[in-house]
Amino acid sequence: MNALLRATERWMEERFPVGAVKKFVSDQATKPLPAHTSWFHTFGSLAIFVIVNQIVTGMLLMIYYRPMPDSAFESVRFIMTKASFGWFIRGLHAWGSKFMIVLLLLHIVRTFFMGAYKKPRELTWVVGVCLFGIALTFGFTGYLLPWNQLSYWATTIGTEMAGALPLVGVQFKRLLLGGDAVGGETLSRFYVVHVIVFPWLLVGLTALHVVLMRAQGLATMDRVGEEKKPKGGLPFVPHHLLKEGVVFAIFLGFLITISILWPPELGEKANPFDTPQAIKPEWYWLPTYQLLKYFPKLLGVLICFLPPVVMMLWPFLDRTRERRFRKRPISVAIGILTIMAALVFGLLGHFSETDIALFGKKYHVDHYGVPRTPTETPHP
Ligand code: HEM
Repeated sequence: MNALLRATERWMEERFPVGAVKKFVSDQATKPLPAHTSWFHTFGSLAIFVIVNQIVTGMLLMIYYRPMPDSAFESVRFIMTKASFGWFIRGLHAWGSKFMIVLLLLHIVRTFFMGAYKKPRELTWVVGVCLFGIALTFGFTGYLLPWNQLSYWATTIGTEMAGALPLVGVQFKRLLLGGDAVGGETLSRFYVVHVIVFPWLLVGLTALHVVLMRAQGLATMDRVGEEKKPKGGLPFVPHHLLKEGVVFAIFLGFLITISILWPPELGEKANPFDTPQAIKPEWYWLPTYQLLKYFPKLLGVLICFLPPVVMMLWPFLDRTRERRFRKRPISVAIGILTIMAALVFGLLGHFSETDIALFGKKYHVDHYGVPRTPTETPHP
């Protein structure tokens, strides 16, 4: 048996450098990780796990989905009611897309507060920011596909926002819509971007991100320029890999439970002549949606573009050498303020144009997020 194995290896080696590949894999597997590597370091690999979930469930959904205005809604209804486990697969896909954003936010918070974006990992961070942008837009393109009222009108609002971009806005909006309003052309375009362009971009950039991360190794907590090769930390295989396995199993259980208990709704078929009241984007777009309300269109769009641009350039703007939380109060304060601002605007966006009860009193929260009693005059 062993002789046969050796002969097969020799045969392969003459045709492909199996030995070199084996050595590379074994070097990667045994590379020691920094001593502080923790459960917080599993958010990135969990994001990879969700990408796999999205690809597998997305392919299964494509079997029955039809990207045409007169059949898209009906095909999703078929998936939800007739196709075997269709409702479950759609649940895994829809919830997976939301958790993807949650995991990426946690991953960003972890790498930001541990100063992992600093030299020599600036490119890992920049590629990460691109991945985050793609993940956010991925959801937006997927939202239109069920062709229900919510998806139709949320896409109308989203493309209006894109139309307000300076210089290129009008052309960009037309490119997205394939006309003047959301219609069959828009659905085809969003479908192609959702099932071909973005998946390839996401997979390609994730591969680049992981190669960059592996080339530099995980960041230690040493000052920039004084990083020592990690000693005494746990090796990637089997210790960290097992930790990741545990996290994957718990997450999968959670995703399955949520998908069974709360399968995504389908709502009513899109009707271009019936504008529903207060259509809102997905939760992760709420801060942007709300912020845009306080400024004239162009200024609002420019203000909304500022955080992603600053985020992209952050490793080059923050030149301090410390990584430890307590030793870099300014960047930590900026990080905390940004999270709080996103939360506040997100909550204002969530409650705007709804009725709420506070301490036994009823209020109507206006467009700007200000709670008003029925007798108060509305905000101009
Ligand atoms: C699809 C999206 C992403 C995937 C699949 C992904 C995956 C990973 C993985 C597996 C790691 C190593 C383990 C860990 O730290 O969790 C990592 C490290 C890293 N990621 Fe991501 N990531 C993504 C998005 C992002 C984003 C949005 C950012 C920041 C804006 C980012 C910045 C970083 C940095 C700086 C590191 C190096 C961490 C260190 O050396 O300690 N990543 N990523």
